[in-house]
Amino acid sequence: MNKAHALIPAAGSGARLGAGLPKQYLQIAGRPLLHHALRVLARHPRIEQVFVVLAQGDERFKRFDWSEFGTRIKPLYCGGDTRAASVFNGLLATRDVIAAADWVLVHDAARPCLEREEIDRLFGELEEDDTGGLLAVPAADTLKRANRESRVVATEPRENLWLAQTPQMFRYRLLIEALRAVDPAVVTDEARAIEGMGLKPRLVMGDTRNIKVTFAEDLALAEAILRSRQPPAASRQPGRKQKPARGRQKK
Ligand code: CTP
Ligand code: MG
Repeated sequence: MNKAHALIPAAGSGARLGAGLPKQYLQIAGRPLLHHALRVLARHPRIEQVFVVLAQGDERFKRFDWSEFGTRIKPLYCGGDTRAASVFNGLLATRDVIAAADWVLVHDAARPCLEREEIDRLFGELEEDDTGGLLAVPAADTLKRANRESRVVATEPRENLWLAQTPQMFRYRLLIEALRAVDPAVVTDEARAIEGMGLKPRLVMGDTRNIKVTFAEDLALAEAILRSRQPPAASRQPGRKQKPARGRQKK
């Protein structure tokens, strides 16, 4: 069995969310978004290490306490201008610790609701695969093609259409060579780069709750999903009560 590693591109600026800071550092359900995105990967028994690709000069990462993960997470300050460039730079930076045939699971920092079962499914379905693949969900809504005036010009058949998610799981050498060959400005996921090599990544059933936080309204939805998984009250009350209590004691 080949080793597996995770790589989290977290060097974006969050322009569409417009929060004034990169969205990976927004607090949601008591933690930075990035913490939620990497936690499940860092705790997965098949994953050796989680490499987090940060913008060069990122000052925020080290303000948070990541000690619970020990050496299982490693920040790399080598983000690029695009997501694909950040992933490529991260892969280059890890070339001495990841073997050619090792698996790399690339997961967006902006997807905080990934669960253990989805990672298990990726390994279950791809471990023996030559190409690799990605989590995705079948398109559920009716799909309309629009013209420039936002008028419908066609209804697209939805059969066989899937919405790509992350993690996307490919072997190190294949992935880095595929990304080297593409224009990083047009490639928005790893699978697209692999397709460019003439290969057919396998679609693995994802979960619609593995949403990507893109716009401000996505934050509330992601928070609701995360809170619905927290054990009732017990894990929340201490955090809430402790701060005011300390304040009062000082008087
Ligand atoms: N990302 C990255 N390097 C970039 C751009 C994006 O590592 N140059 C990362 C983001 O941090 C995020 C993931 O790629 O975890 C998905 O990108 P997206 O949702 O587009 O995030 P942003 O680029 O930060 O947001 P926006 O496009 O709204 O600016
Ligand atoms: Mg972006």
